Amino acid sequence: MSQIDLKSSRALVLPDAPKASDPQRVRIGRMVIAALWLMLIAYRLGLDHGPHFRNSSALPDAQPLVLPKIHIIPTVTTGLGWIPTGLPTPQALPSVNPFAAVRTATGPLGRPQGKAFDWGDFGHDVMKRFWDDWIGHVIQPQFDAVPLPPHPYPLPSPPPPLYPEYYALPPDQILPDLTFPPDFLFGWATAAQQYEGAVQTDGRGPSVWDWTSRFPGYIADNTTADIADLGYYLYKQDLARMAALGGNAYSFSVAWSRIFPFGMKGSPVNEKGLKYYEDLVGYSRELGIEPVMTLFHWDTPLALQVEYGGFASPRIIDDYVNYAEVMFRRFNGTIRLWYTFNEPGVFCVQPGFPQNTTLPHGVSAAQYPYVCRRHLVLAHAKVYHLFKELNIQGEISYKNDDYLGIAWRRGRKEDEEAVKRHQAYYIGFFADPIHLTGDWPELVKAELPPDLLPRFSADEVELIKGTADFFAIDAYREDLISAPPGGIDACLRNRSHPAWPECVSKKDYDSSPYGWGIGEFAEPSMDWLHNSWQHIRPLLQRLNDMYPTTGGIYLTEFGFAEPHENEKPYLHQAIQDPARTHLLLSYLGEILKGIVEDGIPIKGVFAWSSVDNWEWNTGFKARFGNQFVDYSHPTLKRTFKRSAIEMSQFWKSHRAQADESVAAMSD
Ligand code: GAL
Repeated sequence: MSQIDLKSSRALVLPDAPKASDPQRVRIGRMVIAALWLMLIAYRLGLDHGPHFRNSSALPDAQPLVLPKIHIIPTVTTGLGWIPTGLPTPQALPSVNPFAAVRTATGPLGRPQGKAFDWGDFGHDVMKRFWDDWIGHVIQPQFDAVPLPPHPYPLPSPPPPLYPEYYALPPDQILPDLTFPPDFLFGWATAAQQYEGAVQTDGRGPSVWDWTSRFPGYIADNTTADIADLGYYLYKQDLARMAALGGNAYSFSVAWSRIFPFGMKGSPVNEKGLKYYEDLVGYSRELGIEPVMTLFHWDTPLALQVEYGGFASPRIIDDYVNYAEVMFRRFNGTIRLWYTFNEPGVFCVQPGFPQNTTLPHGVSAAQYPYVCRRHLVLAHAKVYHLFKELNIQGEISYKNDDYLGIAWRRGRKEDEEAVKRHQAYYIGFFADPIHLTGDWPELVKAELPPDLLPRFSADEVELIKGTADFFAIDAYREDLISAPPGGIDACLRNRSHPAWPECVSKKDYDSSPYGWGIGEFAEPSMDWLHNSWQHIRPLLQRLNDMYPTTGGIYLTEFGFAEPHENEKPYLHQAIQDPARTHLLLSYLGEILKGIVEDGIPIKGVFAWSSVDNWEWNTGFKARFGNQFVDYSHPTLKRTFKRSAIEMSQFWKSHRAQADESVAAMSD
């Protein structure tokens, strides 16, 4: 026996070396040695990295990125993978979402305006032709049952602290003496188009987004919302998970085209669509979660866009009122908080298309944003009065967005003036008529000619004035405002100035020579978003002073797109979302102080969003969820992120008393 001294194998004893006179034996001997070496190496690798661990605490290394196969699950009752396994095994995340790949080739690319479709008897065959003709291929859900989640839903153990306590307090130790009022609503918001998926299921008609998302390049990652989060089937799971976090309210939107597949008054109501929302509302109440309904969150039924250009036409008003009436009658008593419209300011300036391809005669692309505003405000006002006439229980308003603005160079007249301009051209465009005067802001009327901004008649002014029971704001951020380069007057005189007609400049850095950024910045593709926690309390105070109501003020959306979250290769990295946690906890702290110390009547908050979802033109590239959605998992598995757990800890340690809030609403 001779000992072979090779690196790292000193102890290995091999058989006698073959005699030099026997080359065959030498070769065999070498092969035996090599084989033994390979076995040894394999054995050692097995000990360190293989499936058999040296002891039970050993964990496998993170595996390289693997795209799981998609399984089609026809019927699902249990075992969707939504119950946490408790195994902190690093999981590689796939980089593509196979359920959302767009088949651009099969969809039609652009249609002429005017009457392009014969609606016939509004029957199933007509709807099928409409889908085939205008949308083309639709990705169908991979399962079609609503699984019942465990109750109570298990939560993971809290994440370990990220920073020392002297730098960041644990959530339950922040503002320990302050408590939210007993009837305070705390929850999450989603929207139908971004969350539900199952866009062609149970008789739903297509929406404008189902159509526009088929145009290559219109959505950043060329995805559709065909599947999205499949909330259509997974809503019970999502509600149970929100309940486990302590949520007592859930703000969702209804897809108009699920209720009226063709959108139009006189066309059939889709009972299956109503049933879906009834089930959702019922289950929500069962879990002690107050369901809050938005009637319109940007998803105009495509039929209305094709027929008359959607919000470009006054015909939208009657169709919307007709739809709202069906919802009021069906959900009276089970919904107490209603919103007519989500963020009309954003909706009416959404990229020229599809409106440009479906504009009715007489409405130019330049006029569209203002014509849209007019029809939307009138539709809102009519629906408000209908709500009161029908004696529907509860309160109704609409969701504003944006901010009031802070002068970039404090004390500089032109920047102060720019702030006033921004207010008039943004929040004021809707809040002034609806909450205060019944008419467009004076500043805007003085600058926009009637051929651009149609005026309201005296009767319309009366109709619109005071049609909101509370003030609702999606307050994602506050911003710094300055006069545009060259000044406001020069901009006003030049219609082709990029800032015309608002004629202001937005700054996300201060006016000091150094130019510090306004706050922690979001995902770069969401360049409008930053954490402006220090401005949120004054913003809500100012809004409440400007637009006081008897119903108080709600923060109807707030949230954050964690920078580069979608690029994280592993789940354990993606669910670590400190920037989002900072924003949510600092906003919640400011809101608590606003209520307790400043007496601002803030009635509730809704974080955007409970789960990652389809972020409009950004597709799945930006994530806003407090829960991670694995879009490649056959059941679109959700995983709580740090922010969800810390937010929940904050709420649970600062709420008045468990469940009092919902009890108060039910009295
Ligand atoms: C809001 C909008 C939501 C969501 C969110 C995040 O303006 O209402 O649908 O997209 O922004 O960007």
